[in-house]
Amino acid sequence: MSILVTGGAGYIGSHTCVELLNAGYEIVVVDNLSNSSSESLSRVKELTGKDFEFYPINLLHRQDLESVFKRHSIEAVIHLAGLKAVGESVSLPLRYYHNNISGSIVLYELMQEHGVKNIVFSSSATVYGTSGSVPITEDSPLGATNAYGRTKLMIEEMMRDLHVSDPTWSIALLRYFNPIGAHSSGRLGEDPNGIPNNLMPYITQVAVGALKELQVYGNDYATSDGTGVRDYLHVVDLARGHLKALEKVIATTGVEAYNLGTGQGYSVLEMVKAFERVTGRNVPYKITSRRTGDIGVCYSDPTKAERELGWIAYKGIDEMCLDSWRWQTYNPQGYLAANEVAANL
Ligand code: WQD
Repeated sequence: MSILVTGGAGYIGSHTCVELLNAGYEIVVVDNLSNSSSESLSRVKELTGKDFEFYPINLLHRQDLESVFKRHSIEAVIHLAGLKAVGESVSLPLRYYHNNISGSIVLYELMQEHGVKNIVFSSSATVYGTSGSVPITEDSPLGATNAYGRTKLMIEEMMRDLHVSDPTWSIALLRYFNPIGAHSSGRLGEDPNGIPNNLMPYITQVAVGALKELQVYGNDYATSDGTGVRDYLHVVDLARGHLKALEKVIATTGVEAYNLGTGQGYSVLEMVKAFERVTGRNVPYKITSRRTGDIGVCYSDPTKAERELGWIAYKGIDEMCLDSWRWQTYNPQGYLAANEVAANL
């Protein structure tokens, strides 16, 4: 029996594949490579010494995905495939609804047809509304404020309806807070297209000199230093959370949401200072206006995942910074092949 990992070539996906293989699972990966590189999967095989089937397909191409279900005996699915850029979702909502929701519907229909009812779904803290207090629990008010977050919320609701229609479904909805960091080898990491939207890859590109300075989006929030506070968790801790959720969905039925975070918030400037301290690099920055859609403070109460999944995020901010920096310095052009890097010089 195999675990089907959709989006397995991506940042979260590749780290999750490493943990699955190291834990002895057989895996099958599908990914349309729209926001990832197959190089990450070659490195997953290198790091684990394990082999697996990879299909470069789009979930929306039903016949291609059906052939995977026909070729493999799938025990459970870890569904990570999806577009995830908040800003892009605001300007291209139909692309996000089509890709994220329609792609999920095709996947769930095929799971149902092939009797596969165990699924771990990659959701997000962006499903929480902006009015709630912190720390955020799974019972905090929901209410996405952008198309990306709404696709995640709608997919969560779709899966709850699926479970009502057939209580043999076993579903874990993992609400990620802010994943950062990289595999300690420096061989896997976050490889954003173009100028990074997210804080850590932007910091590492400033530190390496690829970008001039960090724009700090506002210092007038009600926080210790006025800058935005987030719950950053190491991507390897996040990956391990998928394995704990997988064990649960295989062993039980039902549908449950879990916050995957550390429960600890750090401000932008605290992150910059931690990064400079552990790497010895300078990160010049400039305070600018707030980014549209940002909230001031967001961090989790992760105790439900600790209680019900036996999962806790162990890695601290120093390790997150060091591993991010190692990835950046070992891979100045991300997963671009060395010959492509040379050609770009
Ligand atoms: C973190 C903090 C910014 C960049 C994102 C998306 C979504 C979700 C989680 C998947 C904020 C500040 C950032 C910069 C800055 N992922 N910042 N200068 O917005 O919390 O959430 O990641 O579901 O992708 O919602 O993360 O890293 O963009 O921002 O000052 O150049 O850093 O204002 O306070 P965010 P982020």
